[in-house]
Amino acid sequence: MANKEDFKLHRKVVEQIPEYIPGKSIADVKKEYKLSDVIKLASNENILGAPKNVRQAIIDSLDNLHIYPDPASTTLREKLAQKLDVEVGNLIVGSGSDEIITMISHAFLHRNEEVIMPWPSFIRYLHNALIMEAETKFVNLRKDFKYDVDAILSAINYKTKFIYITSPNNPTGRIMTHDEIMLIIKNLPDGVVLIVDEAYREFVEDDEFPDMINIVKTHPDKNIILLRTFSKIYGLAGLRVGYAISRKPIINMLFRVKAPFNVNIVSQAAAYAALDDPDHVEKTRALMRKEKKYIYKRLLDNNINFVPSETNFILLDTGMDGEEVFNRLQESGIIVRDMRMYKLDTYIRITIGNREQNKKLLDNLFKILNQKTKENY
Ligand SMILES: Cc1ncc(COP(=O)(O)O)c(C=O)c1O
Repeated sequence: MANKEDFKLHRKVVEQIPEYIPGKSIADVKKEYKLSDVIKLASNENILGAPKNVRQAIIDSLDNLHIYPDPASTTLREKLAQKLDVEVGNLIVGSGSDEIITMISHAFLHRNEEVIMPWPSFIRYLHNALIMEAETKFVNLRKDFKYDVDAILSAINYKTKFIYITSPNNPTGRIMTHDEIMLIIKNLPDGVVLIVDEAYREFVEDDEFPDMINIVKTHPDKNIILLRTFSKIYGLAGLRVGYAISRKPIINMLFRVKAPFNVNIVSQAAAYAALDDPDHVEKTRALMRKEKKYIYKRLLDNNINFVPSETNFILLDTGMDGEEVFNRLQESGIIVRDMRMYKLDTYIRITIGNREQNKKLLDNLFKILNQKTKENY
């Protein structure tokens, strides 16, 4: 058998795709550290789980497992259209918004065209650009992790095809304001697609957050695609449902590249049911508001710098090696996310949990940081 170095079957570009290193699962950490109690605050999932009515909707859908799902997710799109006040033709549903990023890349991105993306931001934009043999231009966020709109506009040239804006951004939790996005749209060249990823939009409290659907409606001459998901506030990450909103010619092209039966019957039924429970969204928002206050206060009391967040996660600067903090938290049964991938070496990202989980996380974090301070004396 040929060794790894001799293996030449693949496209060269595949080697450039950074290996995705998923965090350890609760089961892995329990086994490795012989712990009975492990909490995961790493992937920005909804700590309250899925809405209650989703369970029954899933059970009901089980009668139809032998039938292919509706390829266009029509019933779900009709419900979304009603809720969002758009037409069904303005919507497409994907297996997570992640799949829609791939569809958009397949449908519109030519080889050697340029993709502008903020840095740090969601790494999947880069992966998809690489697969399409397009170039990626990273535009650094400012020191306070806010968007640098001038730098984004300066990055546009004749090769630009996509501009990704993640608002709120992952891993920072910060938004792009209405005025900032309008400045980009005003200067958006005809052949450029603006992709606004709003995976965490339902958590936002800031009044300056734009009403992107209204902006899309009132700018029919601009190529804007909004990405949304059921993975975060709706608590359905495990079922993989996301959607895009855009003008009809764009949605029609996405349908052409879409895998025929991309969203399974169970997931379509669950997402439909989740829309019937607005209380779950409100309850989650209220919990996040309360817990953010608690976490901020404790971080401030302990002189830990953090990025104010409009999401269900917080990026914080531990002031020491973030990987070490990550490992030591894991040893104590708490899984968070280190930020090595973004070269934010002293940072970790924590998902906001319930009070008990947040307290456990912060107690352990401060213990680790205090020990380190003593070691350094
Ligand atoms: C900014 C952002 N966009 C998109 C996604 C993908 O979400 P989905 O589960 O809908 O594929 C994530 C997931 O973490 C995300 O953080």
